[in-house]
Amino acid sequence: MSIVYLNGEFLPKSEASISVDDRGFLLGDGIYEVTPFYEGVPFGIEGHLARLRRGLAWMRIDHDVDSLEAMNRALIARNSLEGAARAMVYMQITRGAAPRTHYFPEGDVTPTVYAYAKEWARPADDVWGRGFTAITVPDRRWSRVDIKSICLLPNAMAFQAARDVGADDAILVRDGVALEGAHQNFWAVIDGTVVTHPTTTHILPGITRAVVLELARAAGRPVEERPIQVEELAVAEELFFTGTTGEVRPCVEVDGRAVGDGRVGEITRALSDAFLAAVAERVRAGRSAEMEAVGADR
Ligand code: PDD
Repeated sequence: MSIVYLNGEFLPKSEASISVDDRGFLLGDGIYEVTPFYEGVPFGIEGHLARLRRGLAWMRIDHDVDSLEAMNRALIARNSLEGAARAMVYMQITRGAAPRTHYFPEGDVTPTVYAYAKEWARPADDVWGRGFTAITVPDRRWSRVDIKSICLLPNAMAFQAARDVGADDAILVRDGVALEGAHQNFWAVIDGTVVTHPTTTHILPGITRAVVLELARAAGRPVEERPIQVEELAVAEELFFTGTTGEVRPCVEVDGRAVGDGRVGEITRALSDAFLAAVAERVRAGRSAEMEAVGADR
């Protein structure tokens, strides 16, 4: 039975309900985060919470973020996911329930906070090793996609367009620039340089993106944060995506055309290995911190 968190309480999912006046439901007036846990240890949670804090401030939703890490950990524990190789917590904060108006409700309205935890799986090695396909789709999102708003209709339409033609993901294109995927950041290797879009208002500043950038730089690879022109997709040696549940995901075909030689590239593979090693290191550190805390309690 799935235990979810709703407005300060942990309860069975079947017992959780929200008002039909919730502004998330009526207006998409809310924000969300997805935080990964590996063997019960959160990865990059500081970044996820910092992004949430910034988004809440921009949306002018007043909610304490400091307590959310403990809530995330409790949700993992209550769903017996501490031992899961990979799990995630999805959390969503809306402006709360109030009679529908376009302007913010007057008076005190308490934000609605909902979260659930679930397991997820990395694709099998042979599937990952064959790589994934994508199509290009016009980016029809609003102009502040750096805010992780729950208004995901354009993302859903783009992903469905990919599924409709049997592709694994969509690459969102605006003004000739291949910005990011429907739910992942996007990267290219061009003339040996690892390239990804800078963190402007046109992409979500991915937490996985930041980790992979750091790993690429630490490995001494040439890295550039600059827009990737859609014409460059045809000449790139490698393409890949990054995201919380995608980790590092090779893209070997775009719009039916092979990327490079059509196989997963060396740099993508090396960055994926480095990412998995960073996760393993974090799990080790998290585990020993827990052991020390248990020891100190005795
Ligand atoms: N997606 N770009 C978009 C549009 C995203 O929705 C996401 C995350 C990312 C990657 O960000 P991060 O590395 O912080 O997960 C980039 C989440 C996981 C989702 O919608 O489920």
